[in-house]
Amino acid sequence: MIKKIKEQLNQNLDILIFDEIDSTNTYAKELGKNGSPNTLVIANSQSGGRGRLGRTFISKSNLGIYMSILLRLNISLQDVSKVTCVVGCSIARVLEKYINDKFYLKWVNDIYINNKKICGILTESSINNGQVDYIVIGVGLNLYSQVFPKDVNASSIEDETNVILEKDKIISEITNQVLIDIQKINDLNHIEYFKKRMYYKNHKVMLKLSDGLFDAFIEDINNDFELVASINNEKKYISSGEIIKILEK
Ligand code: BTN
Repeated sequence: MIKKIKEQLNQNLDILIFDEIDSTNTYAKELGKNGSPNTLVIANSQSGGRGRLGRTFISKSNLGIYMSILLRLNISLQDVSKVTCVVGCSIARVLEKYINDKFYLKWVNDIYINNKKICGILTESSINNGQVDYIVIGVGLNLYSQVFPKDVNASSIEDETNVILEKDKIISEITNQVLIDIQKINDLNHIEYFKKRMYYKNHKVMLKLSDGLFDAFIEDINNDFELVASINNEKKYISSGEIIKILEK
């Protein structure tokens, strides 16, 4: 598996593959702390797969891609907040070759098909003396048919589209695309691409922000990947938060 993925990668990355691990992000962060170079960490399953806001990411054996890319990048603090959305675009650019336009990018870090989550992204960074030391980009992508607990509202590409993707190939393609896109993190093409596939645009939703829950109308994203939403008729630019649910279609 390592050989196959390595052959398909356009850049030289160390690759580590585990049968089971708690979380590839946690492992990649440890590597980062210990000074390791750019590394791709892959697991067949995770016992403690993590998502944003303390969520669990269900990561059952051989049913999806659970991977983290440790990168030492020359990137400004300001640009770190754009990484998750740009990676969402990278994954979408790979998926669209196989499943056309059936899926949406949900700000800030999820991909949805048929109103169900099939992919989540968790970016974590280490900052030292005001500079980015390394970032870890975690991708969880549900590829194959499985049953999720009802309250999770998740699904897989196979269950939603009947398309069965080749895991190793998709891992290499996503990694290659992320490495290309992230070098040009401020390219406005990413913004345009995100807008084209943006979920909940022009919808009334419930937004969870640090100071509570709000009814909001989602207007757009701006060029910094901030969510542009109107709350109580006031235009807000939101850099961190979560769209909890749709209120009106
Ligand atoms: C989310 O749903 O908020 C993001 C989910 C990210 C899941 C991936 S799976 C690989 C990597 N390791 C983790 O523990 N999380 C990310």
